[in-house]
This record gives sequence, C-alpha cells and structure tokens, in this order.
Amino acid sequence: MKNKQVESAKGKLGVLVIGVGGAVATTFISGTMIVRKGLGIPVGSITQMATLRLGKRKENRFPKVKDVVPLADLNDIVFGGWDIFEDNAYEAARHAEVLMPEDLDKVKDELQAIKPMKAVFDQNFVKRLVGTWVKSAPTKWDLKEAVRRDIQEFKAANGLDRVVCIWCGSTEVFTPISATHETLPALQKAMKENSPEIAPSMIYAYAAIEEGIPYINGAPNLTVDMPAIWDFAAQKQVPVCGKDFKTGQTMMKTVLSPMLKTRMLGLSGWFSTNILGNRDGEVLDDPGSFKTKEESKLSVIHNILQPELYPQLYGDVYHKVRINYYPPRKDNKEGWDNIDIFGWLGYPMQLKVDFLCRDSILAAPLCLDLVLFSDLAKRAGFSGIQSWLSFYFKSPMHDNEHIAEHDLFIQSVKLKNTLRKMIGEKTLDFMD
Ligand SMILES: NC(=O)c1ccc[n+]([C@@H]2O[C@H](COP(=O)([O-])OP(=O)(O)OC[C@H]3O[C@@H](n4cnc5c(N)ncnc54)[C@H](O)[C@@H]3O)[C@@H](O)[C@H]2O)c1
Repeated sequence: MKNKQVESAKGKLGVLVIGVGGAVATTFISGTMIVRKGLGIPVGSITQMATLRLGKRKENRFPKVKDVVPLADLNDIVFGGWDIFEDNAYEAARHAEVLMPEDLDKVKDELQAIKPMKAVFDQNFVKRLVGTWVKSAPTKWDLKEAVRRDIQEFKAANGLDRVVCIWCGSTEVFTPISATHETLPALQKAMKENSPEIAPSMIYAYAAIEEGIPYINGAPNLTVDMPAIWDFAAQKQVPVCGKDFKTGQTMMKTVLSPMLKTRMLGLSGWFSTNILGNRDGEVLDDPGSFKTKEESKLSVIHNILQPELYPQLYGDVYHKVRINYYPPRKDNKEGWDNIDIFGWLGYPMQLKVDFLCRDSILAAPLCLDLVLFSDLAKRAGFSGIQSWLSFYFKSPMHDNEHIAEHDLFIQSVKLKNTLRKMIGEKTLDFMD
C-alpha cells in the first residue's frame, strides 16, 4: 500500500463511549462485534464498504477504502465507556430494544464484559434523567482528573496503543457560548470554580484532549465547539469533530436542498416533524435539550441555499422543526417533511417525505467510521477541527474564519479527497 505520511495502525485501539448504555452506543458496539465475527454486514459504513476511486476513470481502479487506507482492524478494537446507569452493555442493549435478542446473543459474553465506569453527570443538563451511577468530587476540575484516571487505567488494563473517545450520551440543555468558552484560561478557571457554564460533556472532552485522545461529539452539545477547546486541541495535537450525527431527516435535507438549488427551484417553506419513542425522544421532550437539537437542525437549509445570493428563490423560507416523544415507536422514528417549492414563473408545487427510519441503525455505522477516521487523523498528524468529517454531522464544526459545508455530496468529495491525499494519491476534480 502506498502510504507516505500516516503511521500504521499497529496494536490495539481503545474506543471509549460516553453514554455506553444508550441505544446508539449499544447498537454500534454490538454491531461491530457481530461484523468482526463475520456474522453481519456493516451496511452504511464507508470505512468497511465504500470504494475509493484512484487515478483517472479509465484506469478502473476502485479499491475498497479499508484496503488502501491504513485503518485500525475491527479485531483490534476494545470497547469501554461511561454511563449514568450501571447496566452492562448486554443489559443496556436489551433495554434499548434496537437489535433483536437473537442478534445480541451472538456477542453476549463480550457485551456483558463491558461494564460502564461511573459518569460525570449533572441533572441540570439532562432534566429527564436521574443518574444512579455517577462520580462525585468537590469541583469540575477534580471530576476531569477522575476521568483522566479512568482513561489511563482502561489503557493500561487492556494493553492499548491508542484510544478514541466518542460522545453518544444524551443531548444536554442548550449552553450559549460565552466568555467562559473563549479562552483556555477562562475555561480552566470555570472548571475550578464549578461554573454552571461547564457541562459534563465538556469535562470528558477536556480530559480526553489532555490525554492526547481524539474526541467525537455525536450530539448537538457545545462540548468541543468553542475557541478554548480548539486552542487546546491544537496545542495537544488532538483531532476533534462534531456536532450531532447526521442520520435521518437532516440527511434528507442535505440531499434535497442541493437538488433545489442546483436546478434554481424556489423554496417557500419546509415543515419537519418527527415521532420518536426511545430515551433520546424522552430527553428531547424537555425544551432545554430540544433547543440544542433545534439549533443544530435549523442551520442546514439556510447554509446550503445561500438566500443572500438568491433572494428571489430563498429569501423568505419558513423553516420549522418539531420532535414529538411518542413511546410506542421506540427507536423506529418517523420523520415527515412537507416542502413547499416553486418553479417557472413562481408556480407552487409540493414535495412530501415520509422517512420511516431506525435511528440507531442509521447512527451505528457513523460511529464506527468516525472512530476509525479520528484514529487515522491522529496518526496522520492532524489536529483541531476535522472539517473533512463534516459528512457525518448535522452541524459541522468550523472555526470563526470558515463556514460549514452541509451539502452531503460536497462533503463526500472532501472526505474522499482527504483520504486520497493521506495515502499519497492525486485528489479528483472530475475533469477527466
Ligand atoms: N440516533 C440518531 O440517529 C442520532 C442522530 C443524531 C444525534 N444523536 C444523538 O446521539 C445521542 C445518543 O442517542 P441515543 O438514541 O443512543 O440516546 P439514549 O438516551 O439511548 O442514550 C444516551 C445514553 O447516554 C447516557 N448519559 C446521559 N448523560 C450522560 C453522561 N453525562 N455521562 C455518561 N452517560 C450519559 C444515558 O444514560 C444513556 O444511556 C443523543 O444525544 C442523540 O441526540 C442520535
């Protein structure tokens, strides 16, 4: 394999999941175990299933990503994590009711061996949950030190070479960015003073970065999306990425909006509603947590359609997003979109989408890819915000000098071109 810059993936990779007992986490972990035993297909995973065209089209070189990019082998992954409930990963997966018991039983022993470490939790940030397996310490700084010790012990106990940390925990209450999050000294001071502006997710992230571990944010929480953490990640040479896995309705938005714009069709309104019955749905029923999610979901259309360039087409779009907690559906979400568009001479038309998806089934392959790509990024010497991983996020992180890219296909080109560059191949401009 041609590989000029990236260190090889030798040794074991630890994957520490925050919210290890949740629906997404247990579906990701069980699925990865099932796949590596050869008992399932990793559908939806770019690292495991996609190809990477190399050279000119006529060369006909379409190797699989995993055959040319030095990714960690699934058999080298060791899972661990934290949760606010003590259930092991098997019990938690049974409770989540995403995968069928006969699938979970294929990896029952391995799942039972994953016992969560005590969480950093504060109910002010997730109003609907009462944690029973939670750390206590005098300050948030001390809690951060406790998380660092957890990471060090996990690494030593499992003989790991590298570790990646991924947040699959609940969506926290909306925290507006403030002076506390602008600089590293301000953030550190706030942790030592137990400031209410420091969310539990920030404590995990800080600890991970201090340990030199890539951090992935699967929820819309602020967490690593602040100047203080961007500086810290650069200083520690750690890749970070987020926010909020792009799975169902928003994935559809980032496909349909570019279609409208490419054809110069107008948009007057987009009403999105969902019914969802899992624990995530219950947490999002709280207005504070929903506000965090809403912020993440709303920016997409505006960013893609650029109303400032096309005021006649997109200058007056009414965009509304709703999530309704409806227990009978469990993890099987239904997302409806009513899209009011207009064409030639302004004549109105409508598009209706009814996506009957399974939230965690869509999110699990994203977790796997993000873990493997973040580990790769670290070995490639990348640090700070990983914008090439925007493909996976509803609200891709970007610094103050850049804007986010939301179009799924542009994101895909950027992802694959980054992989090409990493392995010393030419990037594609599709001009051949
Ligand atoms: N499934 C999707 O398609 C999707 C898409 C985008 C984002 N997300 C986000 O991913 C996250 C996980 O979703 P889910 O469906 O698995 O939810 P879930 O409620 O099943 O799982 C969340 C887990 O996090 C745990 N938790 C909460 N706070 C914690 C803390 N401070 N420390 C450790 N553990 C903590 C909970 O106990 C629970 O086990 C949510 O934030 C959700 O919004 C999911």
